Amino acid sequence: MRKYPNSKSLFSSLGSSPFLVLLVVLPLIVISVFIFTSCLKTSSSSKYSTASPLTWRVGLFDKSYTFASLAQSEASVVSYNTSTSNSLYPDDQATSSLRESSDEGAVARGVVKRHSKLEKMEAKLAKIRSSIREAARVRNLTSIYEDPDYVPRGPIYRNANAFHRSYLEMEKLFKIYVYKEGDPPMFHDGPCKSIYSSEGRFIHELERGKSFTTTDPDEALVYFLPFSVVMLVQYLYVPGSHEIDAIGNTVVDYINVIADKYPFWNRSLGADHFILSCHDWGPRTSSYVPHLFNNSIRVLCNANTSEGFNPKKDASFPEIHLRTGEITGLVGGPSPSRRSILAFFAGRLHGHIRRLLLEQWKDKDQDVQVHDQLRNGMSYDSMLKNSRFCLCPSGYEVASPRIVEAIYAECVPVLISDGYVPPFSDVLNWKAFSIQVQVKDIPKIKDILMGISQRQYLRMQRRVQQVQRHFVLNGLPKRFDEFHMTIHSIWLRRLNIRIHD
Ligand SMILES: *[C@@H]1O[C@H](CO)[C@@H](O)[C@H](O)[C@H]1NC(C)=O
Ligand SMILES: *[C@@H]1O[C@H](CO)[C@@H](O)[C@H](O)[C@H]1NC(C)=O
Ligand SMILES: *[C@@H]1O[C@H](CO)[C@@H](O)[C@H](O)[C@H]1NC(C)=O
Ligand SMILES: *[C@@H]1O[C@H](CO)[C@@H](O)[C@H](O)[C@H]1NC(C)=O
Ligand SMILES: *[C@@H]1O[C@H](CO)[C@@H](O)[C@H](O)[C@H]1NC(C)=O
Repeated sequence: MRKYPNSKSLFSSLGSSPFLVLLVVLPLIVISVFIFTSCLKTSSSSKYSTASPLTWRVGLFDKSYTFASLAQSEASVVSYNTSTSNSLYPDDQATSSLRESSDEGAVARGVVKRHSKLEKMEAKLAKIRSSIREAARVRNLTSIYEDPDYVPRGPIYRNANAFHRSYLEMEKLFKIYVYKEGDPPMFHDGPCKSIYSSEGRFIHELERGKSFTTTDPDEALVYFLPFSVVMLVQYLYVPGSHEIDAIGNTVVDYINVIADKYPFWNRSLGADHFILSCHDWGPRTSSYVPHLFNNSIRVLCNANTSEGFNPKKDASFPEIHLRTGEITGLVGGPSPSRRSILAFFAGRLHGHIRRLLLEQWKDKDQDVQVHDQLRNGMSYDSMLKNSRFCLCPSGYEVASPRIVEAIYAECVPVLISDGYVPPFSDVLNWKAFSIQVQVKDIPKIKDILMGISQRQYLRMQRRVQQVQRHFVLNGLPKRFDEFHMTIHSIWLRRLNIRIHD
């Protein structure tokens, strides 16, 4: 019986959507109950298990947007270093090149003009940017900052010190305003079970939690557009139609409403707004509003660079398959010496990468166990826990829930994908705890994995255990866990832009 602050507001201003809802909801509701259980339903029993916290690290960049002129295109000066594609974390050179950027200018402008709330916030952000750059230069692997419960350290981070600094600043300053418009279940709700559970869990935790949200939109650094693509699909999509206009147009209507009612969308052309979606159609849905697609922070499981995912402004979001809605029993696994299988995969033939994998390896080799269906008596979870490496090929879309399953089971993930940006790559050094195999090298998987020495394997496996905390979904979010890492991804992207009145 959770109450949302918006529970009284009707969907009134969202154009024709209510009619669609009425027409489609009733027939679909029966089907949908089998597929997803929304967070609203499961949360009332508050059954989430809790686990230990996680780690990562941060990057700096800067981007001086003058939003008034962004519409005239070349005003968007992207200052992320693109040579490291998904890294927000600057190299030393990149870092120093950022120093010259307009931080001082912004501060000076603030002094000359009367200080608007926004200018004051931007001045604070400018200071934080330089403090993170400073932290990045202290290149010790261990953070020098004190922390009551976790200090990021070691090679799983690109730069533990900078990450930690950024994280602590985020905790002090970051405020998100969640637009109240829209009603559950399509807004302010989402699935807490199933392959898309991370979507519902995040929306739910953000709105329930007090730590990163504000009720004063003038105080916010970013604005959340709280629709769930999974729920929009569930209620507006006619199965088999391949037609998603009803979904896209609902988002268009929604953004028109908030752009009319509040000054914030027009002020930044969406750049300080974010959406979050684990559904395959998150990218397509966002394409109905060009500014949303091009400017906003899109937090997506389907982080496919060939489909417009832009790691400089978009954030990759972990896909986490919670069959029961619980993570109890999934986290942890036997020591490496008790893992008898070299590599394991089980899953259906979804997409061309899996076809290659199954053609090459299904029923071919005892060491590389590739199945489209597990034989009776085989348990998926125990196969993960008894394997040294877990194969995580893309399916119909780039993300695979197997990556987090492997990390939970302490099995070293083997990513097989094209154009996928793994979650939290701006902070985490994926090479330290995962293997990336190119699609063309699928026939060589066994050679590649056999070529990893026992010593190197043990190191990687230990790092998988270390990185686990960053992927754990806690019933009540804990510092450094998946929820906080996602918030930090958004924070970093906000740090990378500057907004002017
Ligand atoms: C990005 O970093 C690389 C070194 O990693 C450097 O060679 C390159 O010049 C940088 N690019 C920009 C735009 O700063
Ligand atoms: C970290 O670097 C500073 C100087 O940059 C040095 O004084 C300190 O001893 C280093 N700490 C470690 C653990 O290496
Ligand atoms: C934002 O821009 C749109 C389109 O130009 C306009 O219709 C709307 O009224 C503007 N919103 C505000 C709050 O001024
Ligand atoms: C969004 O980006 C695409 C590709 O760069 C471009 O064609 C389109 O005009 C952009 N839309 C807007 C509104 O800026
Ligand atoms: C990534 O996007 C491209 C372009 O839309 C598409 O061709 C490709 O199949 C996608 N990758 C996956 C694994 O779906």
